Amino acid sequence: MASYVIAGASRGLGYQYLQTLNSNPSNTVIGLARNPSAVQSQLAADGIPNVHVLAGDLTSPASLSAAAAEVSKLTNSKVDYLIVNGAYVSDKTSGLTPTGFVGNEELLKADFETSINTNVVGVIYTINAFLGLVKASAIKKVVVISTGMTEPDLIKEAEVAASVTYSASKAATNVVVYKYAVELKSEGVIVLALSPGLVRTGLSEEMYEYLAEVFRKYEPGFKGAISTKESVEAQLKVIGAVTIEQSGEFLSHLGTKRWL
Ligand SMILES: NC(=O)c1ccc[n+]([C@@H]2O[C@H](COP(=O)([O-])OP(=O)(O)OC[C@H]3O[C@@H](n4cnc5c(N)ncnc54)[C@H](OP(=O)(O)O)[C@@H]3O)[C@@H](O)[C@H]2O)c1
Repeated sequence: MASYVIAGASRGLGYQYLQTLNSNPSNTVIGLARNPSAVQSQLAADGIPNVHVLAGDLTSPASLSAAAAEVSKLTNSKVDYLIVNGAYVSDKTSGLTPTGFVGNEELLKADFETSINTNVVGVIYTINAFLGLVKASAIKKVVVISTGMTEPDLIKEAEVAASVTYSASKAATNVVVYKYAVELKSEGVIVLALSPGLVRTGLSEEMYEYLAEVFRKYEPGFKGAISTKESVEAQLKVIGAVTIEQSGEFLSHLGTKRWL
């Protein structure tokens, strides 16, 4: 029987984690969301009965500590897998290149602050709030969902100059993952940064096709965006296989350093 906490579980990949993990009745599955009642209603509408949803905001250490105390009661004071999935993905700046911020300096600063607060500081708050429960498990896996958009090879070969604040914040996330891995290795805690691939979570089909075309400059055989179900199933294989020797690494849903 394995226990999973998914932080940022209201929609997209986080919600898919709840759905996929729920299909194994021996799992204890707990989602954290800023608005848990909406997620509970969605789960009820989708006929998913055994998932717990608690309030948890990545930017609020108090909400995360309260959630960890509740989780402890549900799981015999341990968490096998902590998956920090939630992220701030700005729709205001995703299309802007670095020079696109000329005349938009306030937007740049505000967007960077929100990106860092959620995607870097929020990740640290979340891991720190749950680390005691993770250490009490025999499995001890912490996974932070990142993005291949941080990788120089992909940026260079696909010529992706946009998505500045998001990609830069996630690159910092990857460094944070490595820091945790180094600190916690002697205690057997495995920490992984994991890219989910290009996944359909709400953009238009035209946008996914546009992105696929851009990414084919990096991966000529790229078939296009995958479903949340495909991505989560692939991610779970990587999470299951990752070892303490690999702790700190940044891998893709393919289990490699190829991102698509
Ligand atoms: N989809 C892709 O193609 C793709 C590619 C590369 C990486 N990723 C990464 O995969 C992860 C999931 O992406 P997605 O596409 O599923 O994103 P999404 O559909 O935009 O969902 C983002 C999730 O993050 C949550 N969130 C944001 N800020 C939060 C906060 N302060 N506290 C708690 N939860 C918060 C959102 O909750 P609310 O409903 O409360 O806003 C939502 O559940 C992210 O880390 C993203 O960077 C996705």
